[in-house]
Amino acid sequence: MPAVRATLSHLAQLGYCEKTIRERLGLADINDLLWRALPIYRRERLSNRDALASAIDLFLLQGVIPLQEVNALFCQTFGQTDWQVLAQIGVVTVEAGFVRAQVSLFPVGDRLVFSEHAWPKLPHPGTVDVPHNQVMFVGSDSHWLARSTFRYPVRNALDLCTGSGIHALLAATHAQRVVAVDINPRAALCTQFNAKIEGIANLTILVGDLLEPVGEERFDLLTANPPFVPSPVHSLGFRDGGHSGEDVQRRIVAALPHHLAPGGVAQIITEIGEREGESIADRVREWLGGAPMDIHLLRLREYSTAAYAFGHADGEDYGVFLRSVDQWHENLMAQGYARIIAVLLTIQWSDPTYGAPWTKSEESKPPVSDRAAVEIEDRLAAERLSRHPGLYRILEQSTVERVARISIIDAGVLGDESHPKTNAQLLGRALAIQQWIEPIEREILLRMKVSQTFAEILTLSHTLGLDEGMTLTVIRSLLQRGLIALTSAKNGIG
Ligand SMILES: C[S@@+](CC[C@H](N)C(=O)[O-])C[C@H]1O[C@@H](n2cnc3c(N)ncnc32)[C@H](O)[C@@H]1O
Repeated sequence: MPAVRATLSHLAQLGYCEKTIRERLGLADINDLLWRALPIYRRERLSNRDALASAIDLFLLQGVIPLQEVNALFCQTFGQTDWQVLAQIGVVTVEAGFVRAQVSLFPVGDRLVFSEHAWPKLPHPGTVDVPHNQVMFVGSDSHWLARSTFRYPVRNALDLCTGSGIHALLAATHAQRVVAVDINPRAALCTQFNAKIEGIANLTILVGDLLEPVGEERFDLLTANPPFVPSPVHSLGFRDGGHSGEDVQRRIVAALPHHLAPGGVAQIITEIGEREGESIADRVREWLGGAPMDIHLLRLREYSTAAYAFGHADGEDYGVFLRSVDQWHENLMAQGYARIIAVLLTIQWSDPTYGAPWTKSEESKPPVSDRAAVEIEDRLAAERLSRHPGLYRILEQSTVERVARISIIDAGVLGDESHPKTNAQLLGRALAIQQWIEPIEREILLRMKVSQTFAEILTLSHTLGLDEGMTLTVIRSLLQRGLIALTSAKNGIG
């Protein structure tokens, strides 16, 4: 495996990493890669055939490359060895003068992870059918979870439904010990393959059903990207979560009280069907079975049932495809879903110091960088601080400041000019969370040009007609939404 590691490091030297590939393909985010646009990438972005173009085509776009090209570009740069190593372990095969990769090499930040192809049905010559138990490729959901996972040092971490092992490999950099579980033995092999290449020694890979293989063990960090698709048929092992989509995710949430260590955190990326007039967060709390845990639910994307059915339907010809759309839609209707929501769940034991367990639901564009993890941590800390019974005393010993740059958009509501709606958003953040703010909150934010003591804020709010209690409510609300932060007392609180 050291030889494969050397080959991957040669690829990295070529620029085969998330940032450079994204730039080369003209994508704002690696998640914007569209298989339907492959001919365009090839023509517009990769026609200048250097070694990186060749590698992207071969290892990410599932291209079939003339052997001559591989010899001329890749081998001239690094010699024959890399090539032979990849051929020996079956990652690439050569047939009739053409080379193709049997698996894809997915860039996740500066890391490279092997998994099965994202687009098994691409019609290029010689492509083998990806079997029913295929290992999940590194998709948008994988990237979103990777970018949102807390990266502070922990004693142990568990990655459920590990697939290629991406989250376990990342956890191995900040956990003393990592356990990865998947029900699919091929996924376990894939994780093992990736771990061996990287020389990771603190990772145990287990095959089994969710938490069954880990016994009674409790973990400081639990990550999961379970199968979640509400499907009319159980066709793909890595994707479907039963007719409701909930079969696996519900069991994971229900197991948290038994497997999360004190102070531990679970982060789950998933999609959940939303019914009219019903809160998803309440359903998640029900799954917890009354355990005193705080729930942060970040809504990342919303799909209409029609768009969802259309996006998942299958069929060789159009008639078959339309019948499949119908089946998918009928199943979603039978579940009573009005829409499907992509969510990131962060669940922790609640600290009674801050009162009863809380549930917070927010909406954001999907995370665009690893900063998302820090931003979510900050939001949880701010939520706890805002609930601190001694908040008044803490404020007296602190200065308060606006967090980063805030874009504020006012929208007058016709016929109700007395209540202009104001929308605020933190600029340059990895999570673009939008907030509706009250006119009085807006006024305080606008005047908070430099950091202020609580006494100064009280004076300011008196001029705006607010008493102490009302000012505290405004401060609490701005803290909860991450629009302000406390400076001097920040450390050690929350
Ligand atoms: C959506 S994929 C996620 C893969 C990977 N963690 C990622 O984020 O790219 C779901 C994975 O869950 C696994 N899985 C499905 N049911 C399971 C179960 N009951 N216990 C353990 N793993 C399961 C599948 O084999 C698949 O690898």
